[in-house]
Amino acid sequence: MPKFQAPKGMRDILPEDQVYWEKIKQVVKNLAKDYGFGFLETPILEEVDLFIKGTGQYTDIVEKEMYSLRTKGGDQLTLRPEFTPAVIRAYLENGLSRLPHPVKLFSLGPIFRYERKQKGRYRQSYQANFEVIGEKDPILDAQLIQLFFSISKDLGLKNLITQINSIGCSRCRPNYRRMLVSFYRSKKKHLCSDCQKRAQRNLLRLLDCKELKCIKIAENVPQIIDHLCDDCHSHFRSVLEYLDEMEIPYILNPHLVRGLDYYTKTVFEIWPDDEEGRQIALAGGGRYDGLIKLLGGKDMSGVGFAIGLDRMINLIQERSIKINTRTKPIIFLIQLGELGKKKSLKLFEELRRSGLGVASSFSRNTMQAQLKRADKMGARFALILGQKEALDETIIIRDMNSSSQETVPLSKVIAKIKKRLKK
Ligand code: HAM
Repeated sequence: MPKFQAPKGMRDILPEDQVYWEKIKQVVKNLAKDYGFGFLETPILEEVDLFIKGTGQYTDIVEKEMYSLRTKGGDQLTLRPEFTPAVIRAYLENGLSRLPHPVKLFSLGPIFRYERKQKGRYRQSYQANFEVIGEKDPILDAQLIQLFFSISKDLGLKNLITQINSIGCSRCRPNYRRMLVSFYRSKKKHLCSDCQKRAQRNLLRLLDCKELKCIKIAENVPQIIDHLCDDCHSHFRSVLEYLDEMEIPYILNPHLVRGLDYYTKTVFEIWPDDEEGRQIALAGGGRYDGLIKLLGGKDMSGVGFAIGLDRMINLIQERSIKINTRTKPIIFLIQLGELGKKKSLKLFEELRRSGLGVASSFSRNTMQAQLKRADKMGARFALILGQKEALDETIIIRDMNSSSQETVPLSKVIAKIKKRLKK
């Protein structure tokens, strides 16, 4: 056992896994741009109060999961446990409200939650987060779900399903809450200890408890979609119609409430549609029509979601999906002798600049060892620059498939390779 290890629930992302991370970030960035999102980076540390107010004082995140610290100057900061309140803070602080609305912002980076260890659950994980600020229209709720499915498609991920629900608004929810209070009144003592606490402060969360005895009780609970106000009802109906229109797979889950306090109306999660994926949501989000005002802005709507990148990559690997990357070098540059070695540094840079993928070991290895390495890396061509070639200003192009070799002038090598690639 090494003397030092990464903190519990946190891990190194090794070079061999970077192809997945590069690919997913590239796909997310391309699609975010296509859907009109501007890229926003926020600090990893924020004021603790931002999440107490934004995420909610009695949520698991705030009660149990934040990594908080006090600076030498006495500020109370925390490693961001999610993006949403931070994005709204940045929107308000930087006067982004002067932009035409809706303002669409997208962020990418780590979040930190002190969670219990479980498959697919990390204390440092990575999210791609999307927020649309200042638009009530239900088409945006549906478009965000469509964006998720476009991203998954580009990654080769199929068999995913949206779970969706509406949890009402400040007009209809109090009434539903009262119904829950009376439903649970006689059943309180049969709930798990967490739910007994939730019954005081975070009633909706009783619906999605994972304890068997609480699931059993919740089976008969009145469903919120039967008690929505007209506005929430028609909003939800429209979202579902848009999803039908786009043929996006979804199921209604009346017990989906989400663990964050700011949601109103639509809430959704996206899950793998297979047995092994049951416990692992790949993405989650919803509408938050009161949050902007709560954090000091105007009374305006918002809707957003975040994708768990670690979980997406785990699923890609579990399902053995081939990731199409261009990281394989097209060329492996082999150099032999002092003069060959000297010239190879400049040539390496020229090849790299020409846009051809190039690799080299730049070491004192023998020709055989370097060829073996080129083969292992899957290079199409090896370029061999020995003492003789360096003196003659030539180079050998070796086709790694056929092993045929051709000597060409050094000044023409890039053009020659490009011509061969075109064939
Ligand atoms: P969330 O459901 O807490 O929502 O997180 C979104 C996704 O991030 C989850 O579905 C999961 O894939 C991933 N995730 C969260 N925690 C972990 C963890 N400990 N380990 C691995 N993956 C994790 C939010 O964070 C909201 N801010 C989303 C949102 C944006 N709602 C509106 N706008």
